[in-house]
Amino acid sequence: MKEQLEKIKQEALSALIGAKESAELEALRVKYLGKKGELTAVLKQMGKLSAEERPVIGQLANDVREKLTAEIEAQKKKLEEVRLEARLKAEALDVTIPGKSQKLGHRHPMYIALDEIKDLFVGMGFTSLDGPEVELAYYNFDRLNAEEGHPSRDWSDTFYFDESSRVMLRSQTSPMQVHAMETKPLPIRILAPGRVYRKDEVDATHSPMFHQVEGMVIDKGVTMADLKGTLNTLAESLFGEGTVTRFRPHHFPFTEPSCEMDVQCHKCGGAGCPTCKGEGWIELLGAGMIHPKVLEMSGIDPEEWSGWAFGMGLERTAMRRFKIADLRLIFENDVRFLEQF
Ligand code: PHE
Repeated sequence: MKEQLEKIKQEALSALIGAKESAELEALRVKYLGKKGELTAVLKQMGKLSAEERPVIGQLANDVREKLTAEIEAQKKKLEEVRLEARLKAEALDVTIPGKSQKLGHRHPMYIALDEIKDLFVGMGFTSLDGPEVELAYYNFDRLNAEEGHPSRDWSDTFYFDESSRVMLRSQTSPMQVHAMETKPLPIRILAPGRVYRKDEVDATHSPMFHQVEGMVIDKGVTMADLKGTLNTLAESLFGEGTVTRFRPHHFPFTEPSCEMDVQCHKCGGAGCPTCKGEGWIELLGAGMIHPKVLEMSGIDPEEWSGWAFGMGLERTAMRRFKIADLRLIFENDVRFLEQF
């Protein structure tokens, strides 16, 4: 029996040393020390031994059990250390490797100009609205006092979707005036930027798609002086203090009186040059006092309320703001151009 115990001990020890995983160790523990293990099997034969032999073999069996238990524990610890070390190695972060540079885009010059406009108007209590680009002629024309037969409704100017000319791509942001009157409680102060569409050929100052920003106020006692004061503030905040503006009488079906606002040419200071086509002035926006008929159609009493509105070309504004000579640059998305802003 002594030899049997020695043999178990040697076998178990060499198996333990070769173990690579803790599951393997556990299997070995069961194999040698478990209830049905080899050591137990030997001990079960103790009855056959003589009284003198029994304590000696008992002692030896205990020594073997202790030795193997200790060895299993030691081996377990070692495996854990190896595992931890491998993990640390795998997860190591080399902070000396140079970083990957991220290419960041930046804002388009037209949107820089729009953000400046929004900032100014939000500061004056205006809310910015989004609206549909596919619009009913009813909102784009009828409700803006441009009835059937009005020249602006012409097929040669407008992208219609149907023969009956009911659905169209909006030709101006002005229908947002009506949407605001229908959905907002009075008084109203809104700004409505967005794309508009007209059948124009592309050249240095025209595109069939361009951007406008509409502004509108309806309140009690609003006058043309408020309109001029606000638009002058806008011109100075965009183009610098002392920017000279000019208001010319004009006609729009939905405002009365109506005007257009020009800013003095930044290139020639009003003398006339190629940038302003010899005019000395650059046209920026249309505006006016909201026509009483337009207010009435939206259920607003023109005896009690009055308002003004303007519609400004955003590309033109950006061109004046950043001294850009050709409208096409705004849409071409040439990085060499865009990187300059
Ligand atoms: N919608 C007009 C245009 O596109 C501009 C405008 C807006 C005029 C608001 C008056 C009031 O030309």
